[in-house]
Amino acid sequence: MNITNDIRYIGVNDHSIDLFEGQYEVPNGMAYNSYVILDEKIAVMDSVGEDFAEEWLGKLEEALGGRKPDYLVIQHMEPDHSSNITAFMEKYPEAILVGNAKTFTFLDQFFETLPANTRQIVKGGDTLSLGKHSLQFLLAPMVHWPEVMMSYEPTDKVFFSADAFGKFGAFDYDDPEGWACEAARYYIGIVGKYGTQVQALLKKASALDIATICPLHGPVLSGDLSEYLSLYDKWSRYEPDKHGVAIAYTSVYGHTKEAVLSLNEQLQKAGVKTEVFDLARDDMGEAVEAAFRFDRLVLATTTYNNDIFPFMRDYIAHLTERNFQNRRVAVIENGSWAPTARKTILGLLEGCKGLSISENCVTIKSALNAESRAAVTRLAEEFAV
Ligand code: FEO
Repeated sequence: MNITNDIRYIGVNDHSIDLFEGQYEVPNGMAYNSYVILDEKIAVMDSVGEDFAEEWLGKLEEALGGRKPDYLVIQHMEPDHSSNITAFMEKYPEAILVGNAKTFTFLDQFFETLPANTRQIVKGGDTLSLGKHSLQFLLAPMVHWPEVMMSYEPTDKVFFSADAFGKFGAFDYDDPEGWACEAARYYIGIVGKYGTQVQALLKKASALDIATICPLHGPVLSGDLSEYLSLYDKWSRYEPDKHGVAIAYTSVYGHTKEAVLSLNEQLQKAGVKTEVFDLARDDMGEAVEAAFRFDRLVLATTTYNNDIFPFMRDYIAHLTERNFQNRRVAVIENGSWAPTARKTILGLLEGCKGLSISENCVTIKSALNAESRAAVTRLAEEFAV
């Protein structure tokens, strides 16, 4: 597939993967993108995941038309992109690996046998000339690992963005939801902690004249790029992109769930957009994404072993480690003899910036009664605004 006259797509699709990075459900597969720039010198942009050496090298060989690559540019050392560097070097031992100093630290940690004399170390701002085309390197530490760098090709105005602007789903999967939904789950899950670093990247990218974004996952983006850029700006500033309520709950015997369903019904009747997640059963990544997507969050759980139910503790850890902030939050707690879930939750959220905690706490003692039903209604009225 041609990205431009001289830039080809040589990525692969993983349709057998169940969990990306060991935790994210990917029912529509995953793409490991790679590209080749054909010029006087030939540069390959990243390798692919470990099970795809043969397919990737076959696509590369076809794109090369009998020539040999001069460079393999390593933008990211995470194994979903770096696993086939050794296979590449076995096939093309005269090629030069291009990366920054940290790239090669990680390269030596992952691979013991790659020789030191086939490396070119670049810094942010350096340019690699290929002939008519060139690559300008931008360091983008922590988007998503510290060695990450991105590359801009000014002749065709192509921005190779590493993990940024990536998305769950195979390259050949035509996502009926469009780009934003699975790109948001990917962004929040993978890069969500690093909003400051993404803001720094967006500032650097704003100085470039970009026609096409070539990420390492998901579709190649071209045409009007403003939606992608503005969503990345919003996400990395931790701003919600929807007015609505995410409701995450755990329920041992169904009584907490009953309160959640009642709240959800009342909010929906009031025309509020909601999404409800049973944290013991639903995809954690979707539940985390919803907390960041909406401007309001309800956490409903039981007091459990003088703590909170484990799935809720885990969920809150996912939020806080991604710098959850700037949202309205309410708690529904259940406890038969000493309900302390709200206190525990507020303690766990203590370090989050800009949270507005609702005073409308719903306390259930075992099962809903008139008092707790009224509290659910008060919360629904507050969150319906
Ligand atoms: Fe797609 Fe951070 O690896």
